[in-house]
Amino acid sequence: MKKILITGASGQLGKVLKTLFTPKYDIIPTSKNYDTHQKNYFCDITNPISIRDIVSATSPDIIINLAALTNVDLCEKRPDLAFSANFGGLQNIVEIFKGPIIQLSTDYVFDGKVGQYNENSIVNPINVYGRTKLEAENFLTKNSKNSLIIRTNVLYDYASESPASFLNWVVKSLQEDKKINVVDDQWNNPTWANSIAVAIDKAIKLELNGLMHWGDNDYMSRFDFAIKIAEIFQLKKNLIKPIKTAELNQIAPRPLKGGLNMDRAKSILNLEPSNISDCLKYIWENKNA
Ligand SMILES: NC(=O)c1ccc[n+]([C@@H]2O[C@H](COP(=O)([O-])OP(=O)(O)OC[C@H]3O[C@@H](n4cnc5c(N)ncnc54)[C@H](OP(=O)(O)O)[C@@H]3O)[C@@H](O)[C@H]2O)c1
Repeated sequence: MKKILITGASGQLGKVLKTLFTPKYDIIPTSKNYDTHQKNYFCDITNPISIRDIVSATSPDIIINLAALTNVDLCEKRPDLAFSANFGGLQNIVEIFKGPIIQLSTDYVFDGKVGQYNENSIVNPINVYGRTKLEAENFLTKNSKNSLIIRTNVLYDYASESPASFLNWVVKSLQEDKKINVVDDQWNNPTWANSIAVAIDKAIKLELNGLMHWGDNDYMSRFDFAIKIAEIFQLKKNLIKPIKTAELNQIAPRPLKGGLNMDRAKSILNLEPSNISDCLKYIWENKNA
């Protein structure tokens, strides 16, 4: 059984990988905050000693690096923190661990003028988050030949305590009868954490390296995504108002026509991306399980 160390295991995707991978792999979940409830080991990727300690104590075969500062506006406000976590953290891992690394990256490495993007599209990040993730990609490509970069976009899950989940925010707001403004000019293919877990699992089995795009099937605006959630969760969709990105005055600029083309990955993995309705229906039907 392969031994896989996961960084950022307390995050949205980390929790899902920990649950789904535990029967298949020997999982070493780590996070930067001690949390007796989640039972993760300590590893702050900005602290090389903590990486060295956990790597030498556990000798993993693979590291999946999910640890990142994912709050895009905070990254813009504090580029020092963003570079330290998103670029410096990976640099530390590469210097200490010589086995394969699976690095999660983002469609924010593109400028969002002409999505959906494939693996050969020209990168041109327009915010600090995107730049930090791109620098990490470039470093990994140069310094770790057996590693894999998986770019994804708009990850969602229904873990109630996850602040990064758009699904969670929409459902909670509508359940509380709150009106929400959702942008109708940002396009991506929203990706259920469980769907990308299947792609990561296959990539591990095939020992893939290089660069791969993976997201779910439906290309839609964030507004249409919110409407879809309301329909499937039987909530009031008239509480959702369309708004333009420019009206939000967010600190970090957002790529508008983002999203990923998965043709290459589909043929390599021999896998079809999930449809959003199927994913949301599954979550809705199993939400109290
Ligand atoms: N969410 C998306 O839509 C999306 C889209 C494309 C790509 N990605 C990438 O996919 C990966 C997983 O995303 P996610 O949605 O699971 O994000 P998330 O919920 O924000 O999880 C990221 C985790 O990294 C941890 N972390 C931050 N700095 C760290 C450090 N120095 N050392 C160790 N852990 C640290 C965070 O811990 P704290 O919460 O304690 O800070 C958090 O648990 C990230 O690499 C992200 O860039 C995400």
